[in-house]
Amino acid sequence: MNGRDLVRSMKAVGSAGAAQRLRTVRAAWRTRRADAAGLPTRGAERARVPGPMLAAEPGPGGGVLRFSRSELRITVAVNGAVFWGWDGAGPEPSYALAGRCPEPDPRALLEPDKDGGWRVVAERVTVVVSRHGAVEVQTPGGVTLRRDLPPRWWEPVGGGAGRWMQRSEVSADARFFGLGGRAAGPRLRGGTYRLWNTDPGRAFGPGDDPLYLTMPVQLVVADAATHLMFHDTSWDGTVTLREGEEGAGSGHDRPGTSELRMSGGPLRCWVMVGTPARVLLAWASLTGAPALPPAWALGHQHARWGFGSEQEVRRIVAGYQERDLPLDAVHLDIDHYDEHQVFTVDQERFPKLPQLAEDLRRDGVRLVSIVDPAVRAEQGNGVYEAGTAVDAFVRDAAGQVVRGEAWPGESVFPDFTHARVREWWGGLYGERLAQGFAGFWHDMNEPTSFTAFGESTLPRSARHALEGRGGDHREAHNVYALCMARAAYEGVRELAPQERPFVFSRSGWAGLQRYGGTWSGDVATGWPGLRASLSLVMGLGLCGVPYSGPDVGGFDGSPSPELYLRWFQLGAYLPLFRTHASLRAGRREPWEFGPEVLEHARVALLERRRLLPYFMTLAHLARRTGTPYVRPLWWGIPEDRALRDCEDAFLLGDCLLVAPVLDPGADRRAVQLPRGRWYDTATGRAYDGPGQILVDAPLSRIPVLARAGAVLPVRGEDGGLELEVWAPARGRTGGGLVVPDAGDGWEEPEIERYVVRWQGRRVVVEREGEDGVSAPPHPVRVRGVEER
Ligand code: GLC
Repeated sequence: MNGRDLVRSMKAVGSAGAAQRLRTVRAAWRTRRADAAGLPTRGAERARVPGPMLAAEPGPGGGVLRFSRSELRITVAVNGAVFWGWDGAGPEPSYALAGRCPEPDPRALLEPDKDGGWRVVAERVTVVVSRHGAVEVQTPGGVTLRRDLPPRWWEPVGGGAGRWMQRSEVSADARFFGLGGRAAGPRLRGGTYRLWNTDPGRAFGPGDDPLYLTMPVQLVVADAATHLMFHDTSWDGTVTLREGEEGAGSGHDRPGTSELRMSGGPLRCWVMVGTPARVLLAWASLTGAPALPPAWALGHQHARWGFGSEQEVRRIVAGYQERDLPLDAVHLDIDHYDEHQVFTVDQERFPKLPQLAEDLRRDGVRLVSIVDPAVRAEQGNGVYEAGTAVDAFVRDAAGQVVRGEAWPGESVFPDFTHARVREWWGGLYGERLAQGFAGFWHDMNEPTSFTAFGESTLPRSARHALEGRGGDHREAHNVYALCMARAAYEGVRELAPQERPFVFSRSGWAGLQRYGGTWSGDVATGWPGLRASLSLVMGLGLCGVPYSGPDVGGFDGSPSPELYLRWFQLGAYLPLFRTHASLRAGRREPWEFGPEVLEHARVALLERRRLLPYFMTLAHLARRTGTPYVRPLWWGIPEDRALRDCEDAFLLGDCLLVAPVLDPGADRRAVQLPRGRWYDTATGRAYDGPGQILVDAPLSRIPVLARAGAVLPVRGEDGGLELEVWAPARGRTGGGLVVPDAGDGWEEPEIERYVVRWQGRRVVVEREGEDGVSAPPHPVRVRGVEER
């Protein structure tokens, strides 16, 4: 944005500001009034527990246990996941499940247990139910991983749905992860975490909770096994966690505890048990495979709120080109809309958008468009008129369309929980495609409606279709963005059938990965924000959403050159690698921080480009197995206690260990190594884990270590695929998978499998096929042999 544009936009914000403030006061009062009239008042309640067990009825994959005041359905599914639901709740309907619920596993049997209880024995898990309704999840060897105490409900005396509480215990050594995107993680320490997608309304740091994307998914890692617990309920709730303690008071272990309180919805859950990889595989088979991004979405992307004009976009792109800095996409924020109205273009500032898009595409740069759900409520706005014609917008309990306040002013909100509305909205992306956009950035979809007081979202009493069942915002809120992502994904899939849709969304829920990824939202510029960025990406990956990344440099203010560079260096190893910042924030182009930062940022950009085939392989593996690209260090060795507590480094796939610099002034850092041999990729020096090492981390780079025996697909000088192979330790072998990808489209590539071994003094790399081994079809470079 040039000086004049800046003044112009500040003035616009200033004068619009007063009017907008007034509207946010009005919106807040409207919300309060709507809820006073449209929500049931909380009167006297009656508490209930299941009571004693009366009968057991075996059924496919488990059965039904009848208690005096409830009924428990247990089913083991063919993917090894266990479902149970109280009060007869079944697994469907569910927004989390991908398609139909998996079939019951006929081998899982309900049988009597001691003391009048019953148990379901399956291949990988045993579930024991006590006479009073405590439910224990055990390993096949009989070790208890989780013990749910009998649940408790509170119901209105006059009838109607109630709230409930589920208290659980886990082993003393267990660690909690997940619950969606949490800034203070990835390890979730003791505290209360809310399950209600929330725009914090300002740039956030590690102390802010909840954020935009929550989900009732706990990944619990313990010595005996890992388990994932998903409570399939979209209502508002809280989880209070307390980590256990071994040898606490008088030498006894104190278990960890989780207390889930939900304001409504069915009490039903899914549990998966095994290694982290097995658990995430089952989770992906239940909630859907992560969408495969096009290759360009794994490159470097540059965004900004307030480019302000086509010329400025061209200037930025030229800036990258002149300095030989790889760039794969530019994102246009709401300032390219006509007065912030979704699916429009400011013809004055962006008069030839399709031409701009075409020119950029010729240079290998895609355009991505922000898409906000709020539609300005004004005749003459085509989207508003069309949406009104198909009755697309959320209504209140009295049948009036709900009006909120968002960037375009007074707005209405599509009800994405209605198939017809999703279809209509999905079709609107045709306008974006015609403008030349190749990808979509969903924002403000918690949904956010600015209010002067109370919660900045729609009234809880607002009505939603919920696929024909009917309900209100208390149930629909957390799945709003998920349904919006579905609308976009399905719409774009139909409009541009040859291409992989690229959608990433600020808010979401369990299953978002089916349609795309997410990003950090407005992370505060500062060292704590840098740390929070990593926490979010790791935590989301463990909830099944593997594609995400932060606003590199932070959303607000101006990072110091050092902070910017360290953020950039981390971002280069995260799935979404995007610089972005707020309207009033300082610059984020790599050349704006002096020649030294520019040099080091170039190295990070070139390395990212070189690693593109590896990122693509990780995207394919995530799609096939649910395993995230970015994994905590304990991924393969969850029983390693030191790794379990390590939050400042991560594995990027199987091959690399990335140790970002998260503190100012550092030129070395400690790295906790998993077992095996690791090479510092900068020096070639070998280290043997497990244990802690100290490695150099000069401003020019962050430490990246390669696992001995790794086969890393990289882009060669000529753009072709090459294999960078890291020598196994003497007497050991290595290997890995490579998925060569066409960059876009739907053709299924053949997975290449490599083995690496020593032959005398040489390291030999061979491709393993159905009919034996052969020479790799790509150039091979072996590293780690001579270097020391
Ligand atoms: C929200 C988004 C941010 C975007 C801004 C304007 O704050 O999180 O990324 O730039 O809105 O659209």
